[in-house]
Amino acid sequence: MSDVNSILVKARQGDMLTAGELVTLLSITDQTELQSLYDCAYFLKEQYVGRIAYFRGIIECSNLCIKDCYYCGIRRSNQDVERFQMEEDEIFKEAIWAYEAEYGSCVIQSGERQDEGYIAMIERVVGRISKYTNGELGITLSLGEQTEETYRRWKNAGALRYLLRIETTNAALYARIHPADHSLEVRKECLAALRRCGYQVGTGVMMGLPGQTKLDLANDILFLKEIDIDMVGMGPYIPHSDTPMGKDAPPYTDKQKKEALTLGLKMIAVTRIVLKDINIAAATALQALEYTGREQGLRCGANVIMPNVTETDYRPKYQLYDNKPCLDENSSMCRGCLSNRITGIGETIGFKERGDSPRFKRRTAE
Ligand code: 5AD
Ligand code: FES
Repeated sequence: MSDVNSILVKARQGDMLTAGELVTLLSITDQTELQSLYDCAYFLKEQYVGRIAYFRGIIECSNLCIKDCYYCGIRRSNQDVERFQMEEDEIFKEAIWAYEAEYGSCVIQSGERQDEGYIAMIERVVGRISKYTNGELGITLSLGEQTEETYRRWKNAGALRYLLRIETTNAALYARIHPADHSLEVRKECLAALRRCGYQVGTGVMMGLPGQTKLDLANDILFLKEIDIDMVGMGPYIPHSDTPMGKDAPPYTDKQKKEALTLGLKMIAVTRIVLKDINIAAATALQALEYTGREQGLRCGANVIMPNVTETDYRPKYQLYDNKPCLDENSSMCRGCLSNRITGIGETIGFKERGDSPRFKRRTAE
């Protein structure tokens, strides 16, 4: 039996894999072996979370940001972005749109802001959404690093989940892609604070960063396991031309897109194999690389999709990376388009179901 096949036999039995074995899986290039990896992840997905895709309507409510990450299109220093901030009522309206479209949850995401006015506005709108929907619509926040007190206020207002990507767990790589005052340790502390506040906690990394190795990625997955994460959202790094990391990088060739997509899919598959009963999102960035990228993510082990429910006019202003899909579409178009594509691969959509992380449920019941 090849190395890969014997590792996959262990994986199907639920055995823990070593970092070296994860590197072997992430390094697969042979098409048959790749398919075996994806099949193994799909087998475990069916067993632990089922063939159901959950929708989380994502509201990108502001591109104002105090951070300056070298890869991100809405970083503070990018002067070429027209900044916007939705009114509280607009955020509320879009969340209710998601509720009425029978999405189980919404995600409120923005650049990072830590001023009291913003914190209080989020607290109010979360409270209003929670009340209006009788707590039926799961509310997820993705609003960056905050104090534990802020996290607690938002949780008390009705937020259930929080997404905060660690981006990479390799300290040297983290330091290369961020300014000196952005800290990996602070990010880890924020994840710990979120857990203490009782959120379902999600994190993830970018794959294909310059200088990132397969071992880095294997270690990233082991980190997710170590902190016993409930949800994972990770995606391929895609250069943005108005950023320090992207300005001299030519757009990806078709070959580079394919490679980045394959790496993204392998990471989803290996994450499913290692973490089993968590929620894993098929990132929108997968679709920037290939039109069917998100469905392919579901086939490789992901079980969550985040359709955009942001007003179309705002979408071009929230470009974290180049070639972001769905900029001209409106929320109904995204709903129809994604629904067809998902039923096309034989999965059902968990409409009206919150789809909480089974891992979280199990841990809190223990
Ligand atoms: N390519 C891919 N993902 C990116 N993000 C920011 N910039 C990029 C990029 N150029 C991701 C980061 C961040 C999330 C909101 O968007 O991982 O956490
Ligand atoms: Fe950091 Fe946008 S500036 S993710």
